[in-house]
Order: sequence, then C-alpha cells, then structure tokens
Amino acid sequence: MAKLVINDNKKLGRIEPEIYGHFSEHLGRCIYEGIYVGEDSPIPNKNGMRTDVVEALKELKIPVLRWPGGCFADEYHWKDGIGPKEGRKKMVNTHWGGVVEDNSFGTHEYMELCSQLGCKTYVNGNLGSGTVQEMSEWVEYMTFSGVSPMADMRKKNGHEEAWSVDYFGVGNENWGCGGNMTPEHYANEYRRYQTYVRNYNEEKPIKKICCGPNVEDYFWTKGVMETAFSHAEQFDGFMNGLSLHYYVHPEGFEIKGSATEFDAEAWYKTLGKALFMDTLITRHGAIMDMYDPQKKVAMIVDEWGTWFTCEPGTNPGFLYQQNTVRDALVAGITLNIFNKHCDRVKMANLAQMVNVLQAVLLTEGEKMVKTPTYHVMHMYRHHQGASLLASELTDAEYIGTEEWKVPKVTESVSLGEDGVITVTLNNLSIEEPEKVEMLLAGEGYRVLEAKIVTGADLHDYNDFDAPEKVTEKDFKEYKEMGRGFELTLPAGSVVEIRLAR
Ligand code: AHR
Repeated sequence: MAKLVINDNKKLGRIEPEIYGHFSEHLGRCIYEGIYVGEDSPIPNKNGMRTDVVEALKELKIPVLRWPGGCFADEYHWKDGIGPKEGRKKMVNTHWGGVVEDNSFGTHEYMELCSQLGCKTYVNGNLGSGTVQEMSEWVEYMTFSGVSPMADMRKKNGHEEAWSVDYFGVGNENWGCGGNMTPEHYANEYRRYQTYVRNYNEEKPIKKICCGPNVEDYFWTKGVMETAFSHAEQFDGFMNGLSLHYYVHPEGFEIKGSATEFDAEAWYKTLGKALFMDTLITRHGAIMDMYDPQKKVAMIVDEWGTWFTCEPGTNPGFLYQQNTVRDALVAGITLNIFNKHCDRVKMANLAQMVNVLQAVLLTEGEKMVKTPTYHVMHMYRHHQGASLLASELTDAEYIGTEEWKVPKVTESVSLGEDGVITVTLNNLSIEEPEKVEMLLAGEGYRVLEAKIVTGADLHDYNDFDAPEKVTEKDFKEYKEMGRGFELTLPAGSVVEIRLAR
C-alpha cells in the first residue's frame, strides 16, 4: 500500500491559475468550426463564437488563452485580420494543410473570445517573418488608449477602448518553424524586438515571453539565457518568461502512434514519457537558476500534451485525434508535476483547446463532446490560485514493462483560500487498483467531495454518438482511518479528493 503524508501547515508556493491555461492556433478545426462559426451560422453563437464551446470552457475557469500560434504565429501578419471581413486578405496556411485562411478571425475576434471566457490574453507575435515595426504596431493597436495612428485605426474598426494584453510571446519555436535560428541569433533578435513591445499601460505591464527550448535542448536554454538574460538583468520586465515545448509521442515524432489503440507497452511508454516533464523542468530550471537564481523569469510551458497519429480519414495537416483514459492520465500526471514546480512554472498551455491534439473539446457540425482530458482539467480547477502543500508519497511501487517503468501513483496537494485541501492522485497501472493510506498532520478533516475520471475499459473515449462514456463521477472508494483516509484507486484512474474541517 502506498502512503501519502500531507503537511497541511507547510505551504510551498502559489499555484498560478495560468498553469491551467490553453492554446488555440489557426490549425485545422481549432479556431474555425471549433470556436468561431461566424455570426450567420445556424450553430448557436454569440458574435460568431460557439455558445456550447464557450459555456463548456467557462466551466473550466480558463485562466489564459494563447493565440494565434504556434508555427502559424511566425507567418501571421496581424493587419490582414482586421477591418471589414470582406476586405480581409486571404493567405495559405502553409504549416497546416495548405488550406486558405480567410482571416475572418483576427485580433478583434480573439479579444471578443477572451472577454466571453473571462480569461487573460496571451498574444504570440511574429519574429520569424515579421518586422520589428509590425510587432510594435500590433502592441500599439491593441493597448494604446490615446491618440496615435494605430489606436485610431482600432477605433475606426469599432473598438474604442484599448484592450489588455497580459502576455506577449516574442516569436514561437524560433529554433525551428519560427526561423531556424541559433540560440545566440534568436537571443539578439529577442533583445531588439522586445525593446519595441511598449508598455502603454504602466499599471498593467505586458509580460514578455522569450522563446525557450524544444524538449531537452539544454544548449538552447543556456545560449538564450546567456545572451538575453544576462543583459536583461538590468531591466525590469525585459524577460518575464522563457517557454518550453514538450509533446508526448509514444513512438517518436515520425511514427507517433495511435490515439485509441494501444497495448500495455504503449500505455506505459506514453505515461513514462509524460513523466519526463518533471526531468525537463528540473534540468532547464537548473540552467535558468545559474543566471536567474531569484527566479524572476518564469518557465512557461506554453505547449504540452499528447500528439498521436491523426484519426484515420482526417486531413493529416489538421492534427485531429481522439482522447482516451490514457490522455486523462497524461493530463493528471502533468498537472501534478506543474503544481509541484510552481516555484518556477507560472503558466502552461495545453495544446490545443478544440479539435487539435489533446483537445478538451471535440466538435462535429453542431455537436460537441467533452473529452476525458476536459474532465481532468475540470477536477483540477480547484488547484488554481491555491497554495501547494508539502506532501510525500512513500512505499509506492514501480510498475510497467521491462523497458518502461513508472511509479504506480503520482499526486499533488493544495490548500485553497477557503481552507479546503485538494488532493489529486493518479493510478498509472493499466490493470491493478492501488490502496493509498493518506495521512494528514492536522486533525479533524472530513471529505467534502471526491471525484474520479476513469473508464470501464481504459481505451474508452467520448464520441458524438457516445458522448458520456468517460466523465467525472463521484468517487466512493475511501474510508476514514485515524488521522486520515484509506483510498482505493482503480487501475488507470485520476482521482480528486477535497478535505475540509
Ligand atoms: O501545436 C502544434 C505545433 O506544435 C505548433 O504550431 C508548434 O509550435 C509546435 O511545433
């Protein structure tokens, strides 16, 4: 039996709500169809945004939404996406399926979406193929409230008030699709471009995100920190975050692997690869510590999730994949890792919000389903803004196959401002339940609520004709025991248990 000891007196830091952030790119059916259907659509919408999707996302308490990419960001020219729709320039989305992008969803539509969701904004600028002037003018267009050419243009396009840009990404994956740069070259470009990302609202300065590494490219992290941050140290707000991108491809980037058909080997390989996030944060964090021991620069994991072979019969450039209980485990494991690293990780954005990669929602025409990942994000929302509590798991065995061994249980624990403790646990075994003895330092706790996401079969997923196969259900497998509780976690499950006095 595993033992989980919780010190309810020891707060280790704040879990920023932004760790539960999302990402939406002009890719496949994420923006178009998935979110934006246009005002004239027969699908119920408000100002073009699907009402079902917005309502479902609001239940997740989405804290922040990154847009417009991804690789698309470094090819996006924002002026093509403003003004009367009939006059907007069309372009080829060369990265994603070569389809025509009609730019009907642009800056105003993105801001409208964030306002409907009540979330913070994270706009990713174009450093790869855009100019400094273009980036600078975009920031002026969005955030300047006085009289200026760009602010006047915004007003002419129907928006009097300046918007708030909470985060601004200075390029995306500039080691790859964003310009194939070397770390030193990018870091010098970052220094130049960020200079012109002006703060027009001094009370709410824009947080600037510098492009960080791909997976375990420690050379990139070191090079960028050396060239950009050592200089940045002198200026407040020069670099607020460094991004990290990491996707779980069970069979590697070329082959990837099926989203729905997997054996025990692929199950453990997938979960083992999800656990690698912990190593990545630790190692990149150690490099960041060399330059920034006070942790002024946040680690921003602005792309994470599973990336499988796309669903048979769909456009390979659209990255549409199903989402099973295995994805729920990847989400549960990864979010526990982020919580535990909340001293450095201040934002993370699941890729991507609707119809792309590890989406929380899938749509088909007017139908919408919530994926198992949605239900995990929903349970874990209680960690948003809470304090991480010291917790330690002992006696949990390692399980798996010859090549892929994983801990049977992972966890994280937080204390909300309302005094409620949220414990989230994952049983990574594909076949065996696990008992966990959960002990608290303090006395007198009772279970306020307990939920579980799992499936009768761990390959289960939600589809348009069976939308509720995997949902959040009440969890009853616990009993009180002295200063704690004994839980029985079913195989392949994500459990949340909330305690109050
Ligand atoms: O999320 C899909 C793609 O993955 C993004 O466009 C890119 O940044 C990453 O390589």
